[in-house]
Amino acid sequence: MILRLNFMFPPFLFLGVTKLPTACCMVAGKTGNGSLFEVSVVFAHPETVEDCHFLAAKCPDCFKPAKNKQSVFTRMAVMKALNKIKEEDFLKQFPCPPNSPKATCTVLEIECAHGAVFVAGRYNKYSRNLPQTPWIIDGERKLESSVEELISDHLLTVFKAESFNFSSSGREDVDVRTLGNGRPFAIELVNPHRVHFTSQEIKELQQKINNSSNKIQVRDLQLVTREAIGHMKEGEEEKTKTYSALIWTNKVIQKKDIEFLNDIKDLKIDQKTPLRVLHRRPLAVRARVIHSMESHYVDEHHFRLYLKTQAGTYIKEFVHGDFGRTKPNIGSLMNVTADILELDVESVDVDWPPALDD
Ligand SMILES: *[C@@H]1O[C@H](CO)[C@@H](O)[C@H](O)[C@H]1NC(C)=O
Ligand SMILES: *[C@@H]1O[C@H](CO)[C@@H](O)[C@H](O)[C@H]1NC(C)=O
Ligand SMILES: *[C@@H]1O[C@H](CO)[C@@H](O)[C@H](O)[C@H]1NC(C)=O
Ligand SMILES: *[C@@H]1O[C@H](CO)[C@@H](O)[C@H](O)[C@H]1NC(C)=O
Ligand SMILES: *[C@@H]1O[C@H](CO)[C@@H](O)[C@H](O)[C@H]1NC(C)=O
Repeated sequence: MILRLNFMFPPFLFLGVTKLPTACCMVAGKTGNGSLFEVSVVFAHPETVEDCHFLAAKCPDCFKPAKNKQSVFTRMAVMKALNKIKEEDFLKQFPCPPNSPKATCTVLEIECAHGAVFVAGRYNKYSRNLPQTPWIIDGERKLESSVEELISDHLLTVFKAESFNFSSSGREDVDVRTLGNGRPFAIELVNPHRVHFTSQEIKELQQKINNSSNKIQVRDLQLVTREAIGHMKEGEEEKTKTYSALIWTNKVIQKKDIEFLNDIKDLKIDQKTPLRVLHRRPLAVRARVIHSMESHYVDEHHFRLYLKTQAGTYIKEFVHGDFGRTKPNIGSLMNVTADILELDVESVDVDWPPALDD
């Protein structure tokens, strides 16, 4: 089939139609083996652009209009029709050998693009006033920055990339800090213009990010493969997280009133979707496990609670109960009304990306 294609038609005829209806050929070349650098050249040859149109009558099903396609004569559609048409029908429709073109084709555009590269690391967030991703409601920006931007802006500049795509192992609320070794994240850099960096250069980049803001810090910054990013998401439900919460109680408490919490192990709780996220999450009851707790008395109305929980547990709701939607909760366990004043993520137990020596 390919042979016939090459013989019967100037090959450029079929290759072009994908890109521009007026162009009759496009040659996309890849340099080297599996190189991510791609050069595409678009040629125009108006004289032969309609040569393949007869195929539409032979195979109407092959040529269906599609959104964002300027012409139905796409490369795929033409190939499909060519596979269907019988040799003799084809020869009836088209001269063999084909007429020689009168004009040569012209180059319309040359485009160079580089496949995405990926950078991963862990971030700490030290602010209680910083969202992870831009916080925009009804087109209006609520807070001026975000973790995502504080990191990615530097990467975009250094990799000279067109855009980015940020992902992470879970996320924290605007008012929650992420301490300890930080939270794993990965950033896809789309169409980078620079991709080779020494580990020293990556370390300097990390230093630059660290220096640029006291709201976030980054560690273990490294180049990774697209495939490796899967490690960040895999088994997310089974992973554990540790938190530290500052809790207020309405009733006066003594040290002995909170000691029983230390003895509770693998407490099963049921959480109805919290009221505060109901607008974006379906209503469901999720079973979660609080693996262990450690209480530290502060004063008659306050204590600090360290919790090790299954990932995906809503900690704020486990403390105040969310109007009975999380059961049991700290309030119900202690027979008090409890509220959470501050929350910090102390660790996200995902061992990817690999830790680097400083
Ligand atoms: C291309 O791939 C072949 C087979 O995988 C390999 O032997 C060769 O070294 C590669 N060439 C380059 C330039 O990467
Ligand atoms: C960004 O990443 C998500 C998840 O990995 C993916 O579904 C999405 O297609 C990506 N977007 C772009 C523009 O690459
Ligand atoms: C950036 O900050 C993190 C967290 O404080 C630290 O672990 C890391 O070593 C710093 N990196 C550089 C290059 O300064
Ligand atoms: C970061 O700040 C330190 C200390 O102020 C300084 O020595 C270093 O040169 C800065 N590095 C970068 C890359 O900005
Ligand atoms: C809470 O109250 C229940 C029933 O009134 C009682 O059984 C339980 O021991 C109390 N728990 C605490 C920690 O005071």
